[in-house]
Amino acid sequence: MIKITKKINDTVARDKKAITTIAREPYPMVVAKGAGDYVWDISNNKFIDFTSFISVYNLGVNGNAEIRRAIKNQVDKLMHPAFLDFYSELPVKLAENIIEMMPSGFGKVFFSNSGTEAIEDAIKISKLFTKKNYIIAFYNSFHGRTLGSLGLTAARTSQREHFGPFPNVVHSPFPDPYRPIAGSQSPDETAIACIEHIEKNILGKEYSSKEVAAIFVEPVQGEGGYIIPPKLFMKELRRVATDNGIILVSDEIQSGYMRTGKFLAMDNFGVTADIYTMAKALGGGLPLGATISKTALGNVPLGAHGGTFGANLASVAAGIASLNYVKRNKRALEKMVKDKNKIIMKRLNKMRDNYEIVGDVRGLGMMIAAEFVKSKKTKEPAIKEKDKILQECFNNGLILLGCGTSSIRLIPPITMSRENIEKGLDIFEDAIKAVSAGA
Ligand SMILES: Cc1ncc(COP(=O)(O)O)c(C=O)c1O
Repeated sequence: MIKITKKINDTVARDKKAITTIAREPYPMVVAKGAGDYVWDISNNKFIDFTSFISVYNLGVNGNAEIRRAIKNQVDKLMHPAFLDFYSELPVKLAENIIEMMPSGFGKVFFSNSGTEAIEDAIKISKLFTKKNYIIAFYNSFHGRTLGSLGLTAARTSQREHFGPFPNVVHSPFPDPYRPIAGSQSPDETAIACIEHIEKNILGKEYSSKEVAAIFVEPVQGEGGYIIPPKLFMKELRRVATDNGIILVSDEIQSGYMRTGKFLAMDNFGVTADIYTMAKALGGGLPLGATISKTALGNVPLGAHGGTFGANLASVAAGIASLNYVKRNKRALEKMVKDKNKIIMKRLNKMRDNYEIVGDVRGLGMMIAAEFVKSKKTKEPAIKEKDKILQECFNNGLILLGCGTSSIRLIPPITMSRENIEKGLDIFEDAIKAVSAGA
């Protein structure tokens, strides 16, 4: 059982005074150090990590030894290369390494410091390359919190309130197999209904293909609830984009970098986008975003885009070390994701069968979530119960993050041991049992 000390309470109180809070879980996790499968708080409480620190530490908490060594070595040489004005070899090397991981035809990388910046770049270059203005994005999507990317985000009103208007974005329904847009639809029927909305209503009645520059989509919606669309949806979305001269942007910031078992999550759908965005795991723990586009789209004119801190050399060195590890161990990582998906999904499926409040469980690779409901019949979101489960898991040494309205994501580092996965699942199930029993 975790002990909440005065030191923890004091830090939380000081945080509330000094920090402009954006989001926090319902439990007081004050992180101090981490390694591999574990994280310790400032009072030395030890936790199993089922968060990968918001999908960043895919290769283990605090990266691995190779990543940390690369960062230390680079910091002693040069940290900031002024890449907006000067040339530097390491970012070129990382770009080349990323391009090697991409489908053929991808040859351009823009480096930034975060996911939201990677999205801002994708917005700008899709407008620039098409000379068109409007963008289609999806309800429940999360693409970031700066004003351009926030315009695309439509997961919660609390994220958008007071920040609009957001020009030139149209939102469209995303197919959720658990909550189809019409009650009785099959997953493919809901996928087709979503595609028809884009073709008939948006492109047919609001903004013609002459005005729509891009469609932004997450292969698996992340913050919106780990919603996995049917394959048919992505294939049809690709067709609509191609038919209408619209750029398809795959936001892989949360779902990419081996999380679903493939370097690109979009590959699970047999679809190739025109632009990909990556961040989170890409920098091995340091801030690094990348926007990767097809060479054929063109070049960005001088001065049209950039940023002082893009391609920080410590981040880039971490990115190179991390990607080297992924390339060397790709087969092993793919197998780890497959095997762990089976272990986790088997346990979750049983939990869904045994507990009324577990409405749905879903997972692509190790991008896995359980959705909590008041009753399986009504599917009414069980928000308080979800928070209680998070708290109960924390009390017993497991950290997890919520997503969507009443879901909890299970995203341990890909490298987590089978034993710790099972231990974490035991804590998770005990919490569900306790909350179901009204604890
Ligand atoms: C799919 C997706 N896009 C964009 C972002 C924004 O990334 P950042 O928080 O690094 O700005 C996130 C963050 O959670 C994300 O999950």
